[in-house]
Amino acid sequence: QLHLLLLAGGSGTRLWPLSRQELPKQFLPLTDSRSLLQETVLRVLRLTPPERIRVVTGESFRALVTQQAQACAASLEDPVISEPQGKNTAAAIALGVARLVEEGASGEDLVLVCPCDHAVAHVDRFVEAVALARQAAEEGYLVTFGIVPDRPETGYGYLQTEPLPDRPFLKVAQFVEKPDAERAAAFLEQGGFFWNGGIFCFRVDAFLEALREWAPEIGEPAAAGEAALRAAYPGLPSRSIDYALMEKAPRVACVPLDAGWSDVGSWDAVYDLAKKDLSGNALFGDARLLDGQDNLVFARERLVVGVDLTETIVVDTPDAVFVAPRGSSQKVREVVRQLQEEG
Ligand code: GDD
Ligand code: MG
Repeated sequence: QLHLLLLAGGSGTRLWPLSRQELPKQFLPLTDSRSLLQETVLRVLRLTPPERIRVVTGESFRALVTQQAQACAASLEDPVISEPQGKNTAAAIALGVARLVEEGASGEDLVLVCPCDHAVAHVDRFVEAVALARQAAEEGYLVTFGIVPDRPETGYGYLQTEPLPDRPFLKVAQFVEKPDAERAAAFLEQGGFFWNGGIFCFRVDAFLEALREWAPEIGEPAAAGEAALRAAYPGLPSRSIDYALMEKAPRVACVPLDAGWSDVGSWDAVYDLAKKDLSGNALFGDARLLDGQDNLVFARERLVVGVDLTETIVVDTPDAVFVAPRGSSQKVREVVRQLQEEG
């Protein structure tokens, strides 16, 4: 049995001003007419029947998630497992697993955890990688999916791997979540490192045991059941699964995922993924450009016109407009931070 837990609770400020606390990026149609959540649901429908797809998210997103999920698979009744509050991914995954156990999942059942904030271009290869991951998970490994890195990105986890004799997957010798720029550059130079794709596969019992051992504040109540975990929720540490568990656990495996993975973490990434016209412009909504090239324009609210624009990003929303040259869009996080400080 394979159960799917989709994580859709994060706030994704890097795609401000379109992505907001009230409407985070996983619910937005960014590269397609479907949202990232919907693309994720469609992807995992290749792996499992609809009733085994669950989405862990905040109560305030229940209606939106259900509506978006049902547009992909009408038989998906109410996929939401709602968190009492956002406590990051270690707690969210533990809650999802506790619910599955509550509903009769056995220790040997497998869980695939997928974030809803990235795109996968080649679904067939994703499906193949999941088949290998299931093998590793059957053996009790906590399984990660490794992406070949192309830059010293500091926003990802890094996996140093070594071969396992007679196995079609690798052993993770070291898991380093979000290294600083210097270390990330050293990893790239050294070679043999993957990015952590943020997708995990494990047996229910292996996960609960490892969580009890390495993050007992979450693992103990999780092992005691969903009610106990919900009761403990307000006091749980807000930690990601990467820091809380994956960096520490000894039995971690990696399945390389060469499937056109992208975390859609910036407007530049959206441009890269979007369909472009012959002039290299990616236009959404009512956007018109005269003699411009290689731009991204989001104009879902009103007509937006550009003349002689090149390599520029324009994102128009009802109450804010963001403009930047391509290549600088990561800096939006800084802007959001400043705006938050100012209240
Ligand atoms: N339900 C729920 N509750 N979901 C959450 C919460 C929460 O409190 N916090 C985050 N999520 C969801 C996000 O919506 C996203 O889909 C997923 O969990 C991952 O969270 P991020 O906050 O986006 O993590 P990250 O991108 O910084 O890092 C992770 O992903 C990288 C790849 O994209 C890590 O696993 C890294 O190691 C990895 O490289
Ligand atoms: Mg992310």
